[in-house]
Amino acid sequence: MKVTIVGAGAVGASCAEYIAIKNFAEEVVIVDIKEGFAEGKAMDLMQTSSLNGFDTTIVGSTNDYTVTAGSDVAVITSGIPRKPGMTREELIGINAGIVKEVSTNIVKHSPNVVLIVVSNPMDTMTYLASKSTGLPKNRVIGMGGALDSARFKYRLAEAMGCPSSEVSGMVIGGHSDKGMVPLIEKAARNSVSVSEFLSSEKQQEVVEATKVGGATLTKLLGTSAWYAPGAAVSEMVKAIALDSKKMFPCSCLLDGEYGLKDICIGVPAVIGRNGIEQILEVELSEAEKLKMVQSAEGVKATNMLLDAQLV
Ligand code: LAC
Repeated sequence: MKVTIVGAGAVGASCAEYIAIKNFAEEVVIVDIKEGFAEGKAMDLMQTSSLNGFDTTIVGSTNDYTVTAGSDVAVITSGIPRKPGMTREELIGINAGIVKEVSTNIVKHSPNVVLIVVSNPMDTMTYLASKSTGLPKNRVIGMGGALDSARFKYRLAEAMGCPSSEVSGMVIGGHSDKGMVPLIEKAARNSVSVSEFLSSEKQQEVVEATKVGGATLTKLLGTSAWYAPGAAVSEMVKAIALDSKKMFPCSCLLDGEYGLKDICIGVPAVIGRNGIEQILEVELSEAEKLKMVQSAEGVKATNMLLDAQLV
């Protein structure tokens, strides 16, 4: 398994670190446009291999995509992160051109690659990567739902005072402060509905805290988060590498599922060696359906902002 990570910023580096520590990939290539930066991050990480006990080789490259040739998976983290007070949607102007160029370069050298898009606005960047590369829809995945679901479980565990390993829950919909749809009615602690432990007010607080999970961190850190995004990506890459058929909510190009077409948005999917092996259409309540429709309207509005020449 060869994995390319484009962008040696905090998310890209954290992603490389978790992939290495989990020790399932032969090679990780980090690419960045800043001279020597990816090489530096790769060397620093390689110097942890005897300490952390991994065999993965990590190499860096300054914008030379020939080094990425033959990648099985490529993770796109390039572009700028948001600053406090910004929405993810406001990044579209700068990030769209970068994501298009990067995805085209990747596919040129790795025609069989599975792309995982992290750059924001994530659902729109996933749609752009899908359209501009023409890759089959199972091979372009947006990461958001895996991260948002981890944040949802963190908030649920905190509210119930239990370990997050006891909690199951999913966030579908768009990866935006307004568009996320945490499926609170389906969330559980060891198969027992969270409504047995939390009042409806408390459940609502958890939902709201989850939706602004990224914004809360951006305010605290002065830039956007990296540990949980990096860990979320590494779990998706691992599911592909091990063909584990794990279920992740993630941004998928839909063709009628959930009543939606020609949009990338977060839905539960089975991830394996072929990328998106299956999109799962779970039964939604009327309230959840309505939220999903509103979320899709938001993502479509952002997609409309894409320069026609890019798509
Ligand atoms: C976040 C970014 C990665 O939610 O969108 O932290």
